[in-house]
Amino acid sequence: MNAGIERISFYTSRYALDLKTLAEARGVEWDKYRVGIGQEIMAVPPPDEDIVTMAASAAKPILDECGTEGINLVLFATESSIDQSKSAGLFVHGLLGLPARCRVVELKQACYSATLALRMAALAVNANPGSKALVLAADVARYEIGSAAEPTQGCGAVAMLVSTNPAILALDDASGLHAEDVMDFWRPNYRDEAVVEGKASTRVYLHTLQHAWQHYKEQTGRALTDFARCCYHSPFTNMAVKAHKTLLKADAVAGDEAGHLQRQVDESLRYNRIVGNTYTASLYICLASLLDHATEPLDGQPVSLFSYGSGCMGEFFSGRIASGYRDVLYTSRHRAQLADRTLLEVQQYEDIFNLTIPRDGWDYTFSQYRTGPFRLAGISAHKRRYERAD
Ligand code: CAA
Repeated sequence: MNAGIERISFYTSRYALDLKTLAEARGVEWDKYRVGIGQEIMAVPPPDEDIVTMAASAAKPILDECGTEGINLVLFATESSIDQSKSAGLFVHGLLGLPARCRVVELKQACYSATLALRMAALAVNANPGSKALVLAADVARYEIGSAAEPTQGCGAVAMLVSTNPAILALDDASGLHAEDVMDFWRPNYRDEAVVEGKASTRVYLHTLQHAWQHYKEQTGRALTDFARCCYHSPFTNMAVKAHKTLLKADAVAGDEAGHLQRQVDESLRYNRIVGNTYTASLYICLASLLDHATEPLDGQPVSLFSYGSGCMGEFFSGRIASGYRDVLYTSRHRAQLADRTLLEVQQYEDIFNLTIPRDGWDYTFSQYRTGPFRLAGISAHKRRYERAD
């Protein structure tokens, strides 16, 4: 029996910045962002939104529909941790009223950890049929203001219910892996913004992809053209385009490159183009985008996924889309949240970015911004206080 994804839901902040206004403010050609990088809008988290509120908001529709029965594992993947000790998953566990007989833990390896969470969740539910796991992936992508990486920020969360009833995607066993100790992107504990060797990081991503693909091919004998669709970790959408072009070339796939890209990749990039980088959630927002936008039904079709986490860890894996998957998607909810965002002025985005929150235990109460169903109300006695926003 193949385990996999029974439900997938994503959430992003209620605020966003149109990158056209950022391009104007930074004196950069708009086409550099829109065409060269492939990004149009980036999500901006207000001060009372964080990985916990975003993950809880992503998971709520799933739990409202499917309930919490059987969930005995919560894996929270992030590189935007809010505590050095306590798992963000336990805050979500409390907000969502998850069962007490449950394992809850947080995982980190840059943008890769959601994939390990998904694979471990699938193993766990396969070993104990009837049990379910909740995989949460949430991040805030943050670089220095005015840096080359600035237009590749964003924020968001994905929640996936994993079970032996994969009503959306049954995972295949094969995995192509590549791990290597490199410094392409990292964030020391004393920094709020990532440090990145931008151009080198894109080269390391592609090098890792080629190794992981080779390992996957050795196990399966599959070719790139065997997949109906291909999803890639997308720090910016042109990274996924570069990735697919690299594999088309490595496999000497004949025919029109633009046609292959349009057919196999484009639908998966629609959300990322207007949300931005969400680090470990990014690949799964690509999957949600593919499922929500595919113009032809994908029932029974094979899809590939490439997960990349700087530092670096890559995994190329695959799955088969379930028959009837369209009946269990949250497409209209996803589209409605994206259509209902408040666009910020550049100055407002910078004010939010530069807001300093006390780090010494002083009590702090957050102003109320637009959020999903949960918000960070304040910090007192070193404790983060979350509350329902409605
Ligand atoms: N019209 C059209 N295209 C234009 C243009 C214009 N007017 N001006 C420039 N461009 C093109 C460039 O030709 C270039 O295209 P190619 O990549 O195809 O060569 C592209 O726009 C980017 O321009 P630059 O090469 O000048 O690059 P930059 O200095 O602006 O930096 C970046 C781009 C390196 C991606 C930077 O945004 C960055 O550091 N981002 C963060 C790091 C990142 O996302 N790395 C990805 C791999 S690591 C990873 O995946 C993990 C993760 O999530 C971070």
